[in-house]
Amino acid sequence: MKALLARAYGPLDRLEIAEVPRPEPGPGQVLVRVEAAALNPVDTALITGAMRDELPVTHPFVPGVDVSGIVEAVGPGVDRFRPGEAVIAWNGVPSGGFAEYALVRADDSAAARPAALDARHGAALPTGSLTAAALLDEAKPGPGATVLVVGATGGLGSYAVQLAKLAGATVIATGRDGDRGYLESLGADGVIDYRTEDIAQRVQDWAPGGADVVIDLAQAGPALAASAAAAKPGGLVASPLGGPAAFDRDVRAVYTGTTTPPGRLAELAALAAAGTLRTEIGAEYPFPQARQALLDFPARHVRGKVVITF
Ligand SMILES: NC(=O)c1ccc[n+]([C@@H]2O[C@H](COP(=O)([O-])OP(=O)(O)OC[C@H]3O[C@@H](n4cnc5c(N)ncnc54)[C@H](OP(=O)(O)O)[C@@H]3O)[C@@H](O)[C@H]2O)c1
Repeated sequence: MKALLARAYGPLDRLEIAEVPRPEPGPGQVLVRVEAAALNPVDTALITGAMRDELPVTHPFVPGVDVSGIVEAVGPGVDRFRPGEAVIAWNGVPSGGFAEYALVRADDSAAARPAALDARHGAALPTGSLTAAALLDEAKPGPGATVLVVGATGGLGSYAVQLAKLAGATVIATGRDGDRGYLESLGADGVIDYRTEDIAQRVQDWAPGGADVVIDLAQAGPALAASAAAAKPGGLVASPLGGPAAFDRDVRAVYTGTTTPPGRLAELAALAAAGTLRTEIGAEYPFPQARQALLDFPARHVRGKVVITF
């Protein structure tokens, strides 16, 4: 089969599409004929080695965390999925999605893909929606709470806006000039241009005293203090990137990455199939251009997800 391959840690332009043996599903694994896969910032970090201390990979490495396709074969002991079934999966560090066939785990990191969810939109769903849901699990905004989403136009942010809205929150979203209509279409009650406006100041227009919750998807470490400044006293900053344990004001910090609680991915897929959770595909590349997709990804302003199709 053909796969996008990194033979060692290094720059993205060393990626190549190469012929590799088709993997065999082991116990608890499913072999999927990939129809679509989606890009995530972690893909580039795993390829370059930027996260090699925390998240090492083995080479040759096939990137691709988010996968959507048809079950080709199941490994020993798997009764959760059957050959011919459409599935989506979050593959985590083992990755493998940017290939004609990929192994996925037959556990809560995978779910049947509802008929109403096509392969491209299914591929776009796992990392972004699971991580947004995990952040909201931590932040628990009640009905009437104000949630500020910093980095709202990206792959994770578009789900964070929608899931916060579904939780009954008033949602303020940051984007660029020109993103207002898109963010409002996701349910944002207010939009702040992060490049020209003072976020902490502007959030007061909707939440005098500050937001109850700030979900910051763009900044890490000490830079999160800027988001703490936009939260109300007693409020909370939630981030998937990590940062200080505490701020110099009365604002809590919580950090979480992608989680796969039982049934969660299936629930999100059902919401997506029902049209309750919308996925924006901001860019699409055919598999032969997968390397270019990764080269473009870090600098390209995309609304929603970037998808590779097979
Ligand atoms: N820990 C985990 O398990 C986990 C899981 C998923 C994601 N993440 C991390 O979460 C982050 C977001 O993921 P993603 O998939 O949404 O990435 P993405 O699609 O690249 O989106 C990033 C968003 O941040 C915005 N942004 C960049 N700089 C900004 C700034 N200074 N102020 C406000 N917004 C800014 C971007 O807007 P422009 O397009 O205008 O630049 C874009 O909307 C990434 O760093 C990713 O690695 C972590």
